[in-house]
Amino acid sequence: MSRKPLLSRSGTGRGPQTQPPYFNIHPDDALAELGAPVGTAGFAAAAEMAARGRADPVGQQLNVEGRKELRRFSTWEVTRYLIPVAAPHFRRVLKANPDLPQGRSESEGGTKWFTLDEVLKLRVFFASEGSRAKHYLPYRPEGLPAKIVAVANFKGGVGKTSTAAHLAMSAALDGYRVLVVDLDSQGSMTSIFGGRVEDEWATVFPLLARDYAESLQAENRLRMGRGEPPLSLDDTLAEALKVSARDVIQTTHWPNIDLIGAQLNLYWAEFQIPVWRMALKSWKLWDGLINRLEVDNVLSNYDLIVLDTPPALGYLTINGLAAADILLVPLGASFLEFDSTGRFFDVLHATFGSIEEGENLAARALGTPELRFEWDAVRAVVTRFDGVQQMEMANLMQTYMGPFMSPYRQDFTALVGQAGEQVSGIYEADYRDFNRETYIRGRETFDATYAMFKKLLIGAWRRDELDLKAGAA
Ligand SMILES: Nc1ncnc2c1ncn2[C@@H]1O[C@H](COP(=O)(O)OP(=O)(O)OP(=O)(O)O)[C@@H](O)[C@H]1O
Ligand SMILES: [Mg+2]
Repeated sequence: MSRKPLLSRSGTGRGPQTQPPYFNIHPDDALAELGAPVGTAGFAAAAEMAARGRADPVGQQLNVEGRKELRRFSTWEVTRYLIPVAAPHFRRVLKANPDLPQGRSESEGGTKWFTLDEVLKLRVFFASEGSRAKHYLPYRPEGLPAKIVAVANFKGGVGKTSTAAHLAMSAALDGYRVLVVDLDSQGSMTSIFGGRVEDEWATVFPLLARDYAESLQAENRLRMGRGEPPLSLDDTLAEALKVSARDVIQTTHWPNIDLIGAQLNLYWAEFQIPVWRMALKSWKLWDGLINRLEVDNVLSNYDLIVLDTPPALGYLTINGLAAADILLVPLGASFLEFDSTGRFFDVLHATFGSIEEGENLAARALGTPELRFEWDAVRAVVTRFDGVQQMEMANLMQTYMGPFMSPYRQDFTALVGQAGEQVSGIYEADYRDFNRETYIRGRETFDATYAMFKKLLIGAWRRDELDLKAGAA
């Protein structure tokens, strides 16, 4: 039987005032609502209920995944943001070259809208025919591999996925060929890019498994030579030996962004990797991802690889960080996030330091080259910045973090959350859905995030290019 809440009379003459909801909870009422204790089978029941809900036709209509289609870009956007030509000149060139994509207008004589594919074709045309003084195509030294950027911080909710997704999209708009790798079993990046991931076999899992399996095979060849019994290769590993990066890469609704997706099963890797390492101490568990990206030619097929990592420094993150050339560490300008990001750098030092130490003991004994992790650039980046509330904190961080802190701050913008389910982030949103001012300001902050990153990217490539030339000379 439920009991009426006790009402207390306030002295303000504004009638009865309800007490806070946590007063007067009767133990028997609480018990009646509680339900039976939940065992492991309870999780199966909960999962089953959710699965039935997802299968409901109403739910299916709400599911926007798999139906993603990239919007078109207007002449205004193309000439303002994507190809550095004046709009009248752009129109004249299209008119004079009827073979070029002409765009589609929504009304008679209305503004022309282009798919990204068309924009990419137009850019190539301007690059070959247009003014030599302008940079139509982004800088990409020939003969050098793709650069890999990892966005990581073990603190949750700091803007890793938003930053990674926006970087991937702005680089794609800029004309780079991008591969996005989701290392977070929450799969947020995967949803953003409309990825379909049945199970762990469509994630990086088989790539890591294959790297281990190949190490195991190499070890067994040595054992055979010594007349020792081989280590066993189970079904999973035998299966993984057949998988290459090409098998797990999927296309997305962006013509120049591909994806290696993630889903919950990928979390299994966090348990499996240490077990493999125990069985074979010589397996370099941090190198699995980069090895496969190299061997399977992924690094030569793309310009940029963007890794989104989970809010933890687990084995997947370690693989991501070891593979990365550039590491971005997003954090909010609050004391709490500053504090925990400082600890993150501490843990990175301890983790990679102990890997180096372990390897180099053996290397020194054998006289082989020592292992030294090196990144082109490491930058903490303030995200969700509120200049009114957080200026002092951000300045303090800048003062103390110096070279590790990007001077650029990504503003808080309502556009990120507002863009809604159907579209992800500013670059997918149609500017006509927003107040133009809000759009321009929101876009500016992510354009500036990209500019900050692109400078690191180009600088790093340039260094490699000069090293290569110096080596050849
Ligand atoms: N510049 C921004 N302005 C406003 N909101 C933002 C901005 N960047 C991120 N957010 C919001 O902050 C929240 C957390 O962002 P995000 O999911 O990118 O963080 P994360 O670090 O990837 O989280 P997790 O640790 O769970 O993976 C999201 O709701 C996102 O929309
Ligand atoms: Mg995330």
